[in-house]
Amino acid sequence: MMYQNLSRAQLLDLKNELTAEYEKYKAAGLKLDMSRGRPGKAQLDIALDILDDKSCVSPSGFDCRNYGILDGLPELKEVLAEAMRVPAANIFIGENASLALMYASISFAMLFGIGGSKPWGKYEKVKFLCPVPGYDRHFAICEEMGIEMINISTNENGPDMDTIEKMVAEDETIKGIWCVPKYSNPTGITYSDETVKRFAALKPAAKDFRIFWDNAYCIHELYPDNPAQLLNLYDECVKNGTEDMPYIFFSTSKITFAGGGVAAVAMSSANLAEFKKHMGVRTIGADKMNQLRHLNFLKANGGFDSIMRKHADLLRPRFEAVLDILDAELADTGIATWIRPAGGYFISFDTLPGCAKKVVAACRDLGVVLTGAGATYPYGRDPKDSNIRIAPSSPSAEELAQATKVLCLCTKLASVDALLETAE
Ligand SMILES: Cc1ncc(COP(=O)(O)O)c(C=O)c1O
Repeated sequence: MMYQNLSRAQLLDLKNELTAEYEKYKAAGLKLDMSRGRPGKAQLDIALDILDDKSCVSPSGFDCRNYGILDGLPELKEVLAEAMRVPAANIFIGENASLALMYASISFAMLFGIGGSKPWGKYEKVKFLCPVPGYDRHFAICEEMGIEMINISTNENGPDMDTIEKMVAEDETIKGIWCVPKYSNPTGITYSDETVKRFAALKPAAKDFRIFWDNAYCIHELYPDNPAQLLNLYDECVKNGTEDMPYIFFSTSKITFAGGGVAAVAMSSANLAEFKKHMGVRTIGADKMNQLRHLNFLKANGGFDSIMRKHADLLRPRFEAVLDILDAELADTGIATWIRPAGGYFISFDTLPGCAKKVVAACRDLGVVLTGAGATYPYGRDPKDSNIRIAPSSPSAEELAQATKVLCLCTKLASVDALLETAE
């Protein structure tokens, strides 16, 4: 039933029905949370053996209890290189999570500049391009640093490359772009080969323009036998002679422990030398004990592939629980769209324009917490007020089914109200 085809009288009848259902849910006193992409408890338990490991000495004989090795255990670099698809020599392992490395790299650019160019902080204004909808914490870093953010629209192939190519070529103050190229947060899309090639071939006016390639979900499949294929940006950049452009981020936050895993960034040799110089002042060294424990855990458990299959088995039914209800309740209503992701942590859900905030507020009123509407846009401002990010990883499939029913009900109610404003 297309809501847009309903008469005013039919909409009013529907509103009565939906309101009665709303009151029933209200009386039920639910308490459900689909707001943040946290691994569920069973996922965190996958890596529990890490905590039993008391080894101290790396395979090459380094005592990890001591200071030293700023850029990470070489043996772990070899293992991460496979997942990150970059040469081990170009990897820096450090910090507890990749956001810390992102924040560090932008801080260094703000304070010291990159490759001898003017520090970003010395400009009156520098700008970042932000494919939307995107990840709120990327936007928070820019906002805190005073970096102006420019929305770039995205479709199923990735961000609008025509606009990106034109803008970076014309404006020397555009210094960066945020990208989540595989199973993007929140849309779940994977950039097409053409998109990746066009990124590698960018000709920015700013020599210190950098692509912040946050490959957070590079091995996070829901259907491991049918993974999305992301072209290798680093290889493409090497072919184009643009290998100084990307910073490629990775972490095991959603593989071992969220915020307690290991994180890494890969960059060209020139970038890496500069990054290491700054990191060497910032810290006396990383937590190599944790790096060693991760190395041992990965080796003992068949590497990333078999560990990620365990995650997929836990995540897949949760995603499907949400998607099945969305299909059953909202297909052919014309009031919402969503994408069926094949990996990652999110389902991106779009209401009719002007409804997302009302839907999120109504869900909260019924005890279902969703990510705040607008969070997927810079400055928390979704120009259409339509995008909602659903995070299905943590609750059980049963809880998710219930929470999604509430989301559907609230979407229907908000849509009926919106349509009543213009219905004859
Ligand atoms: C795209 C993206 N990048 C980074 C992170 C956080 O990663 P980390 O824990 O390594 O900082 C998340 C977490 O949701 C994410 O969705």
